[in-house]
Amino acid sequence: MIGARTYFDSEADQLTPRAEAEFYGWLKMRNATFKTTCQNRFRELDAEIAALVAAERTGPVEVLDVAVSAGTSTLELKEALTAAGLAPRICATDLFLEGRLFDLAPGLTVLTDRSGWPLQYQLGRRAIRPWVRRLDLLTLTAPLRLAAARMIAPRLGRMVAEGKGRRVTLASRRVADCPDIELIEDDILQPRGAFAGRFDLIRAANILNRNYFPEAQLRGAVRNLAGYLRGPGSLLLVTRTDEATARNDATLFRRTDAGRLAEVRGFGKGSEIRELVLDAL
Ligand SMILES: C[S@@+](CC[C@H](N)C(=O)[O-])C[C@H]1O[C@@H](n2cnc3c(N)ncnc32)[C@H](O)[C@@H]1O
Repeated sequence: MIGARTYFDSEADQLTPRAEAEFYGWLKMRNATFKTTCQNRFRELDAEIAALVAAERTGPVEVLDVAVSAGTSTLELKEALTAAGLAPRICATDLFLEGRLFDLAPGLTVLTDRSGWPLQYQLGRRAIRPWVRRLDLLTLTAPLRLAAARMIAPRLGRMVAEGKGRRVTLASRRVADCPDIELIEDDILQPRGAFAGRFDLIRAANILNRNYFPEAQLRGAVRNLAGYLRGPGSLLLVTRTDEATARNDATLFRRTDAGRLAEVRGFGKGSEIRELVLDAL
């Protein structure tokens, strides 16, 4: 595991995609989700979607990719759209994209989210996770980790409120540095006026899952995303990766003239929330 100070002090080209995936894979967020990121998760799906979009449009395409984690698959979507001859501009969002880096003592750095919630300690060259896993209960490090987080969190919260700490972006450096990708912290459950009617293509990957949100929240999120589509013909892709087989089960929807969402086609087994989307508006 790389330490946060080492990660954010490195030049982007010194960080391999594997090192980035490992760094983010160990960050457990306040809502207990991990910032996991995976290379080539959507390679075939990206190519098919890019071809479908390119069959109907040329030139610039406004894309919204929600819940992007570290953004690795956003960069791959951009590459697929570019390879299909399009000029994508992508807005990539996630609930957690803004972090802070605090030097608490010589050799001790803490990475937190925007509220001061500790995500990782770096002591010297060693990276230490604040969260507890089952094995810690056997080694008795669990109480130490919990006590450290409990003691340190209020102090970090105050430091954030006072504007202290170095702001960092919790996304792959290759994504943060890409001029065609804008990273924005956003909650898909809350409507965002600035996104209304803006996008030709929206992707919701591995987020609108039934084990993630209850039905009412899924409906709300779908209504929000539908409102962000530019108009008739613009596309919404809802996809989920099957963890056992790595197959992507997805459905592509199109906004109709009547303002509803209609199915364009399915991939794999199709989206598990297909019916909910068709009937959400
Ligand atoms: C499993 S990752 C999906 C990453 C990426 N889309 C992919 O498929 O590779 C889920 C992401 O959803 C984000 N998330 C969870 N709840 C969210 C919410 N209400 N609004 C926006 N993002 C959320 C988490 O922070 C996490 O980064």
